[in-house]
Amino acid sequence: MIDQSVCLAGVTLKNPIVAASGTFGFGREYGTFYDLSELGAICVKGLTPRRREGNPPPRIAETPMGIINSVGLQNPGVDAFIAAELPELRRHDVKIIANISGDTPEEYGEMCEKLSAAGVDLVEVNISCPNVKAGGLAYGTKPELAAEVTALAKRHSTVPVMVKLSPNVTDITEIAKAVAEAGADALSLINTLRGMRIDVNTRRPILRQNTGGLSGPAVLPVAVRMVWEVACAVKLPILGMGGVSCGSDAVQLMLAGASAVAVGTACFTDPYAPVKVRDELTQIAQSQGHGRVAELTGGVLPW
Ligand SMILES: Cc1cc2nc3c(=O)[nH]c(=O)nc-3n(C[C@H](O)[C@H](O)[C@H](O)COP(=O)(O)O)c2cc1C
Repeated sequence: MIDQSVCLAGVTLKNPIVAASGTFGFGREYGTFYDLSELGAICVKGLTPRRREGNPPPRIAETPMGIINSVGLQNPGVDAFIAAELPELRRHDVKIIANISGDTPEEYGEMCEKLSAAGVDLVEVNISCPNVKAGGLAYGTKPELAAEVTALAKRHSTVPVMVKLSPNVTDITEIAKAVAEAGADALSLINTLRGMRIDVNTRRPILRQNTGGLSGPAVLPVAVRMVWEVACAVKLPILGMGGVSCGSDAVQLMLAGASAVAVGTACFTDPYAPVKVRDELTQIAQSQGHGRVAELTGGVLPW
């Protein structure tokens, strides 16, 4: 049997498949379908220092080959996560990635300290949420601010820090380089692309927040392009995501340079999607003669 394990910023995942933040909650619902230990890692819903209700509905709408969402970081707050959700997740043999968002760089630091002490395996710093007013995307689109948040997160964290980049920029490598120089241990990309739908009968935007973030199969080619660009520009390991719904999608991201791959929106139509992607990816790697799936990383050939 082919070796499925991969290394992400010094953390060994038993296979390269990660549940993407915000599409898997804290794993409870998916745990009724299969053992969460099947996955390489679970990236939990974005956490903030205090509980958030999120944005008012409607906040999810379908699009051709995807969805747009403006959930707005609904979550119980970092302390409630540590008290009520982390112990439950820890019962499974799966790495836990805490996804965090703050209104100020200091808030990122505080959360890193708490989550490192609580024993998560990795912190994913979200500087790319398009659905919140403060922080979020504001940090992910300016190299200096992205670097400042990264440096603070690193200073307050005892576990590896991965920074999640936004595709809503002209040149993603500029932000990737700034974050790498500030000490990030890994990068994850892509978050959602800003989008909008309008109901032609009511003439109102379909989402209550007017705009939202586009995800799902429609964004895969953008994700592959950006992972490839970032992999060419910086030496850090990459968690690739955006539109993955089958094994060959995940293989594309790995060939472009990703060490591991997250599955997000696909979980909404098929809760088994991450497990199916894992099996199909393994099958492709094996049929191409690899002994380890990790050998796919960066394997794209030049013309
Ligand atoms: C409903 C929804 C909620 C999300 N919430 C978060 C979040 O809290 N933090 C985060 O970093 N990304 C969040 N994302 C972005 C995903 O983690 C992922 O980057 C993006 O959806 C692209 O992957 P996909 O096409 O496989 O879904 C969310 C995406 C969706 C669809």
